Amino acid sequence: MRNILIISDESKEISAIFKTLNFNINKQNSKQKGIPFGTDSVNPLKYDIAFLDLDVDNWRKRLLELRVHMPVIAFSMPDVKRAVEAMKLGASDFLEKPLSVEGLKDIILRHKRKILIDEHGFGETIGKSSLIQEVFGLIKKAALSESNVLITGESGTGKELIARAIHRWSPREEKSFVIINCSAIPDTLLESELFGFEKGAFTGANYTKKGLLEFADGGTVFFDEIGDVSPLFQTKILRVIQEGEIMRIGGTHHIKVDVRIIAATNKDLRISCKKGNFREDLFYRLNVINIHLPPLRNRIEDISLLVEHFIKKHAHKRKDILVKNISDETMNILMNYSFPGNVRELENIIEHAVSFANSPKILPSDLPSHLIHSPSQKINPSPKLKEALVNIEKELIWSALQKSGGNISRAAEAMGIHRQQLQRKLKKMR
Ligand SMILES: Nc1ncnc2c1ncn2[C@@H]1O[C@H](COP(=O)(O)OP(=O)(O)OP(=O)(O)O)[C@@H](O)[C@H]1O
Ligand SMILES: [Mg+2]
Repeated sequence: MRNILIISDESKEISAIFKTLNFNINKQNSKQKGIPFGTDSVNPLKYDIAFLDLDVDNWRKRLLELRVHMPVIAFSMPDVKRAVEAMKLGASDFLEKPLSVEGLKDIILRHKRKILIDEHGFGETIGKSSLIQEVFGLIKKAALSESNVLITGESGTGKELIARAIHRWSPREEKSFVIINCSAIPDTLLESELFGFEKGAFTGANYTKKGLLEFADGGTVFFDEIGDVSPLFQTKILRVIQEGEIMRIGGTHHIKVDVRIIAATNKDLRISCKKGNFREDLFYRLNVINIHLPPLRNRIEDISLLVEHFIKKHAHKRKDILVKNISDETMNILMNYSFPGNVRELENIIEHAVSFANSPKILPSDLPSHLIHSPSQKINPSPKLKEALVNIEKELIWSALQKSGGNISRAAEAMGIHRQQLQRKLKKMR
């Protein structure tokens, strides 16, 4: 937990309790340090959780202002009526005065998952650049809102990761997060996949099947690659958004579905709309909150943190040595690379390097060869034909993977081989 906002005439005493719990209270938060008491002048985006004393003036107004930005823990002298009112107005919890270390510990445990724990990350999402910090702010806002979200950004920038983070931090976290890979569902299967069917609806419908949207009821639906869907798909999604209900194939009544929608694409949907390939009305319905993920080359400050994170993530795959870090020279090479496949490509590179490292420190020679050699030096001129062919194959595979942003299916397609074939070859290379 980082930033706690305390609104109370006794904020000094309360800060002292947090200190006992080893939390850093930004002294500026307290009234004593001269921050105006009203929340109007306090930037709520800076805080992760608020403690609001119901014995202060205007507590109702403050609660309404704060609750859209962060969990608000109300506290006061024992007063059931006020406690109930505060909870009705949106307080996440209520504590009785005097606050105790035990009581606060308990509350913090309960809210821990909703609070930023790591200074340089948002759960699994890592980054310290100002661009990614802005994204973290938007995730928080999106998590506390029910509005639809459109996540845009190049391939491999982390769109799915962000969608998951929004769900995990939202009040829907206990319910399902259903991913609908739009481009993988052909129009012929669209309705049965999205809406399900009743037994006997068509030949072969021997049982009643719930559709993906019904499965997601109460939770979040993530429409991935929304920019690639057919006009029919667009019309169906728009209807669900507008009506909030579906009908199974062969069904006789509509079923209400309460889903929060997040969509992602690496396409520029405004251009698709102009070209007539994407319905403008659907675009506006989806794009209520837009989160754009900048390419990794525009936030190189994040590279070293991500490298550290991926080394930790993949180190367990080596049973012989424990790869721990990376040499300065190797880091330099990475910092000067453009990462067309963004974070996914960086992760692939580190996974490769961890597999190839001969010591706990990753050296330039452990990197995929396209990073360390210029194109003319790439192929090792081995006199042995078999070895030379293996090297050429390696280069072609890495180059295809680089172009596909680390996407194995797309790389395989570009090389004219099956995905499984490519996976086997990659395994052999490791
Ligand atoms: N900020 C980040 N911190 C840690 N890992 C990240 C970050 N961004 C992306 N990743 C990792 O990079 C990989 C690619 O991310 P993800 O699948 O979310 O990208 P995407 O934008 O959905 O890509 P695509 O458009 O190709 O589907 C994942 O393994 C993800 O965990
Ligand atoms: Mg994705």
